[in-house]
Amino acid sequence: MAAASPAARIRELVSAIRKADHAYYVLDNPILSDAEYDRLMRELVELEAAHPELASPDSPTRRVGGAPGDRFAKVRHREQMLSLGNVTTDGELDELDDRIRRNLGLAPGESVAYVVEPKLDGLAVELVYEDGALASGSTRGDGTTGEDVTANLRTIGALGANRGIPHRLAGAPPPRLEVRGEVLLQKAHFEAMNRQLLRAGEEPFANPRNAAAGSLRQLDWRITARRPLSFIAYEALIPGNGRWKTHWQKLEELAALGFETNPENRRCRGIAEVKAYRDRMAERRFELPYDTDGIVVKVDDLDWRLRLGAASRSPRWAVAYKYPPQEEATQVVDIFASVGRTGVLTPVAVVNPVQLSGATVTNATLHNEDELRRKDVRIGDWVLMRRAGEVIPEVVKVLPERRTGAEREFRFPERCPVCGAKVVREEGEKVWRCTGAACPAQLAGRLVHFASRRALDVEGVGEKTAAFLVEQRLVRDAADLYDVPFEAWQRAFSRPRKLAPGEKAPELPEKSAQNLVDALERSKATTLRRLLNALGIPQVGEATAATLARNFGTIQRFMDATEEDLLAVRDVGPETAREIRAWTGEPQNRRVVERLLAAGVRPAPERVEARGPFVGKTVVLTGTLAGLSRDEAKAEIERRGGKVSGSVSRKTDLVVAGEDAGSKLKRATELGVRVIGEEEFTRLLAE
Ligand code: IVH
Repeated sequence: MAAASPAARIRELVSAIRKADHAYYVLDNPILSDAEYDRLMRELVELEAAHPELASPDSPTRRVGGAPGDRFAKVRHREQMLSLGNVTTDGELDELDDRIRRNLGLAPGESVAYVVEPKLDGLAVELVYEDGALASGSTRGDGTTGEDVTANLRTIGALGANRGIPHRLAGAPPPRLEVRGEVLLQKAHFEAMNRQLLRAGEEPFANPRNAAAGSLRQLDWRITARRPLSFIAYEALIPGNGRWKTHWQKLEELAALGFETNPENRRCRGIAEVKAYRDRMAERRFELPYDTDGIVVKVDDLDWRLRLGAASRSPRWAVAYKYPPQEEATQVVDIFASVGRTGVLTPVAVVNPVQLSGATVTNATLHNEDELRRKDVRIGDWVLMRRAGEVIPEVVKVLPERRTGAEREFRFPERCPVCGAKVVREEGEKVWRCTGAACPAQLAGRLVHFASRRALDVEGVGEKTAAFLVEQRLVRDAADLYDVPFEAWQRAFSRPRKLAPGEKAPELPEKSAQNLVDALERSKATTLRRLLNALGIPQVGEATAATLARNFGTIQRFMDATEEDLLAVRDVGPETAREIRAWTGEPQNRRVVERLLAAGVRPAPERVEARGPFVGKTVVLTGTLAGLSRDEAKAEIERRGGKVSGSVSRKTDLVVAGEDAGSKLKRATELGVRVIGEEEFTRLLAE
């Protein structure tokens, strides 16, 4: 494919990163390896740096991953829970040290004291203590707002995996103390848990991180209590501060207050000592009782930290050094083509089970034909596989020296393995596609998408349920979901499901069926943007769906929009306009929409205000707002007819500057653009 325009590539990257964030933080079900994720993020950072006008204010480069799920009450963190920038080389460590020394104006001979800690591969949480008693505990969520898991956190320590989480602090705690740290599952406990699962014929967890996250995010704290989770504290905050001079003192006080801190933490003078620690830990990491995927390097002096400050996503005083991924050799026993929602056939290698960072890996995606040929993976080949701290298994390379001549090349099937329709690879396309309009695999994928959280949000329609509905010919399109008889849902749920040890027996089929019917009923009161996303229109993801919803307001107006109308929408290009029109022009699709409406699906029209201070205005958000997340602020402005842009130019009408506003504020002042603070902004919103 020809190189995409920077704008298109940015859109692609943003959407891929959002999906990965959602899968990782909200669903506990990662879809990208850390390395892949980091690559996408780096590319996005670079593109945005080269084209600041294309960077949107809610770009993932500006915020921490997961939005909090809706199963738990939400907790706002008093201070944002930041994420860490990643480095992987000595050169980058030196750069970090240079930058810090420059920013602090240190003399050439003066070195920076760092605290180094293993980077724990668990789940970050915040605990709030009031007058020494545990008042609340929450997950990181999107950094600003997390999930209230207080009851679950209280159970940590009950099984003695370590000291756990104190309910009352020892020593002389301040009136309010926030403690941050990592909830994790030790490797031995993780393996025992997986052995039990396997014995019970159930699917094991992919890695200790997922197992810990899954254990913590249980609605019933009694399940959490049965999992031997540990908590290791690494940060303490008090409003106002002034209690500690160095990070090391914080760690000492955390231990005195009754927390487990990491015995591997060290103080280093200068970056050379940091590197030596890194080398030692890289060698010893597999001896540690828990998974680590690197080390965290933090400036020790707290005044210096304040002076260094933070970028929007991560502090300038700390960084994560990530170890290179672990690799293992294994043999490819088969390659097959898996069919997805859009009909794309993805080649998947089945390998002899191999242990990679605590998880058993049995297959790996080979992405597409070009990738498969580039790596030249054949059935029977010995390959190097990688995962390490990463999630999705991948083939690093073939080991040609181990070839015997018996290896076989994989050929894409001429017919879809699921429906038998012809498989084609169009010119200029990277992928083979099934042409079967009624392909069950595609249909099942579309149903899962339709029901997903960001679409119509019908909990309970997962892959297995969707496959069952299609197989039993209960459903031919999304509209049919609303006609599935209760008895059929009961059958769909009467198949055995995997259980974690200690988890309650699954709900009775009729209970699950009732939940599903209720969820379907609730899904009818939806929004236009959700519905447009749910329909699976080519080129229309979440962001485009929102834009279209705002522009057309109702489903009727959208369905009747001409290619020209579509082209007039900002952010809709010619290709997208063509694809959308082709979709809305297709009688089958029109019928599905009509039947959804007839079933009672009522997408609330997206209201675009015609009056008010934001109508037609281009607004730039900068700095942190105390009352609203950036996404929320953006949505509020857009709902009032304004547009939010990522960079300040002469065309900017208004800049909203929160705390720690930086270069954009400066630029606005230079250009004479109107700048308002949070208070004024809140007042305008209320107008
Ligand atoms: S300090 C801004 N220390 O890494 C400071 N984080 O990418 C960030 N993590 O969400 C927290 N071990 O889950 C810190 N010793 C450690 C850590 C650690 C693991 C995780 C934590 C955080 C993520 C940041």
